[in-house]
Amino acid sequence: MKEILEQLEQKRAAARLGGGQKRIDAQHKKGKLTARERIEVLLDSGSFEEWDMFVEHRCADFGMDENHIPGDGVVTGYGTINGRLVFVFSQDFTVFGGALSEAHAEKICKLMDQAMKVGAPVIGLNDSGGARIQEGVASLAGYAEVFQRNVMASGVVPQISMIMGPCAGGAVYSPAMTDFIFMVKDSSYMFVTGPEVVKTVTHESVTAEELGGAVTHTSKSGVADLAFENDVEALLMLRRLYNYIPSNNREKAPYRPTLDPVDRADKSLDTLVPDNANKPYDMKELIVKTVDDGEFFELQPDYAANIVIGFARMDGNVVGIVANQPLVLAGCLDIKSSIKGARFVRFCDAFNIPVVTFVDVPGFMPGTSQEYGGIIKHGAKLLYAYAECTVPKITVITRKAYGGAYDVMSSKHLRGDVNLAWPNAEIAVMGAKGAVEIIFREDKNDPEKLAAKEAEYKARFANPFVAGARGFIDDVIQPHETRKRICRSLAMLKDKKLENPWRKHGNIPL
Ligand code: COA
Repeated sequence: MKEILEQLEQKRAAARLGGGQKRIDAQHKKGKLTARERIEVLLDSGSFEEWDMFVEHRCADFGMDENHIPGDGVVTGYGTINGRLVFVFSQDFTVFGGALSEAHAEKICKLMDQAMKVGAPVIGLNDSGGARIQEGVASLAGYAEVFQRNVMASGVVPQISMIMGPCAGGAVYSPAMTDFIFMVKDSSYMFVTGPEVVKTVTHESVTAEELGGAVTHTSKSGVADLAFENDVEALLMLRRLYNYIPSNNREKAPYRPTLDPVDRADKSLDTLVPDNANKPYDMKELIVKTVDDGEFFELQPDYAANIVIGFARMDGNVVGIVANQPLVLAGCLDIKSSIKGARFVRFCDAFNIPVVTFVDVPGFMPGTSQEYGGIIKHGAKLLYAYAECTVPKITVITRKAYGGAYDVMSSKHLRGDVNLAWPNAEIAVMGAKGAVEIIFREDKNDPEKLAAKEAEYKARFANPFVAGARGFIDDVIQPHETRKRICRSLAMLKDKKLENPWRKHGNIPL
């Protein structure tokens, strides 16, 4: 018996060594951790239960029958993050470059199936040379099996991808269907076709980093949510994100008690908005001063920065924050910001996270590039997302809420539960100047008359009371009481129940 026990330990030790010390050293030399080291950083110490350590590929072509490494290039199992269950797969670049074989895919699928059964999130740590070339279509089949599960799990359990090495070709589509993508700067990239193919087809010279690195995807394409300096920072931030998301679509996100008083008044908010309506201010200041302990976990800060999204807590409960940012493009809605906002609202809705929306929006961005790019369709995504959303929705208009964008930004008409406005809010079809120039076009050469009409229009419409008179705004509040009013609203909405009519699925404009 003792011998058998020793053999088991030897087998385990061999599996833990992956592709061998030389390749582990090479991995470290690139500044990367190994698959197992990453799991250790990500999970609570000692919580990892590994599965399928002894799985091997079944390929006999191109000398592969002589080349078996236990685990077959991916470490899978479950553990906890701050005590909460999570399933993890971590691709091992030291084993066949982390390339995905049929057996490797089966390990991931097994894990995802189990996560669905018990209702726990799946985190994928991606570091892979793509489809296992020696296996051909069996490997492609493996990818598709994973894709199918990604889609079935979407909106049921949260799925998070961390790109920590290569992720190219078909391999990108599994992360693409997950809820959040984190990337590590300089050591990870994602693209459908690599620089060589790009060079051949479009004659563009571009490095892998420029084409699909972390900075590219968090600032240019919007594919990824956050970029980090190294593996450890990325994994620790993933642990932080985990604290904001529920385990599945039937649970609420974890509650964390706070010492931050619910009725904490912040007088500085009374002067946050400048007197001049065309002057910007930082909406993030309002967010940070309103939420528990000033903690705001922002997503996609460097992409479509005219809208701000992220998680925070209010009175200990997780909320999703969506806010126009007057500092960037005056807070206009455009194609990118509409898509960014819409996907986030849909995540919150799928996972029972109330949405708090701060509005200061002068309208949709004008221009041919927006119209040719399909702003009609893409802007509709945000509208659609808010309209179908059944979680508690609280809206605070801090300044402008003009035109169609007023409707879109979680208005009362889209089943906003609590719609508040600051006293200086301007809820109108458009700004006074633009409005007067259109209605009194014949007076365009009479600046005095126009100025008088503008003042009249401003006095009549550039305030929250017209909307308040119709009940579109539930109350006009002092800026300094924003936190208290939101917290009370959330408490009132705690047991909100609202269901959309049965349907196979809606047809969101894509
Ligand atoms: N299938 C099988 N083995 C693969 C592989 C794949 N898709 N990708 C990498 N490997 C193996 C390599 O043969 C090498 O094996 P070795 O250590 O026994 O020599 C090992 O993984 C490491 O790869 P290497 O090329 O030395 O690493 P690198 O860091 O220099 O480059 C890649 C990484 C991903 C850019 C490069 O390996 C590559 O281009 N791979 C193929 C990508 C591809 O076309 N995939 C199929 C389509 S999705």
